[in-house]
Parts: sequence; structure tokens; C-alpha cells
Amino acid sequence: MRILVANGPNLNMLGKRDKAIYGDKTLPEIEAIMKKFARRLGAEVTTFQSNSEGELINFIQSNIAGMDGLIINPGALSHYGLALRDALADIVVPIIEVHLSNIYAREDWRAKSVIAPIVKGQITGLGWRGYLAALQLLISELNGESWE
Ligand code: DQA
Repeated sequence: MRILVANGPNLNMLGKRDKAIYGDKTLPEIEAIMKKFARRLGAEVTTFQSNSEGELINFIQSNIAGMDGLIINPGALSHYGLALRDALADIVVPIIEVHLSNIYAREDWRAKSVIAPIVKGQITGLGWRGYLAALQLLISELNGESWE
């Protein structure tokens, strides 16, 4: 099973950027934890980050064919990235939107995600562990685990 993990603008600055809001882990640290966690659950993670909406779209469109699911933190594109939204709406694998911070507890303009209506679900405000929650959920669902 393969999961693509995409991060948008400014998430390359994690670890330096507003640590009280985003925590002190860098993106490479979070990605390494995700790869380890996924391996334990029998999945493989491919990571990508870009500050450019076009590059994100190009990467996702070129690589989604081999993937079973997508986890994406679109950064500020969540609030206005309509081209990204249209690209994601075309994707058939399940998508989970992740935010480190709680976008509903911050500035008003952050409380609206244009991505949210076309994804399976959203995890917001759980810090770096939100990415692990998304991974666990996707893998469990893709494996058809019913816990009966
Ligand atoms: C973010 C929240 C966005 O509002 C912000 O622009 C980001 C990060 C988060 O992970 O909390 O870049 O997506």
C-alpha cells in the first residue's frame, strides 16, 4: 500500500516558524516519523513539499496513479487554492486534509477551507500527530479492517 503525503507553502519552515502554533518538529522529522509508522503498518509513504500551487498540482497529477491514498496539508492554499481544489476533486483515491493548528480557533479567514468539501475528512489542531492519525485511518480503511 502506498500513501502520498503532500505539504504546501511554508511547511518547509516547520521547526523555525511560529513554534507556539506549529510545534518544534521540522518537516523532515515529521516525514521520517510517518515513514517509520507507515512501515510498521505495512504501508509506504512518499513525501512532497512545495511552496508553489502549480508544482503541488503537477506532482500530485504525475504521481497519484501509483498511490492508494493522499494526505495533504495545503497550508494557506486551504483557504483560497481553487486550482488545487479542482485538481484534488479529480482524484479517485481517498484524501485526508491535515492541519497542525486548529484552523477554527485562529483568524476568521483560516476557518474556511476550500479543500474540505472535496476530501474524505479533515484533521486539525492535533499537531504532528495529526499526520499519524490520518495515516492510521487511511491504512485501516484501505485494509478493510472492521475490528469484529
Ligand atoms: C496550516 C494552517 C494554515 O492556515 C496555514 O496557512 C499553514 C499551516 C496548519 O498546518 O495548521 O501554513 O495548514
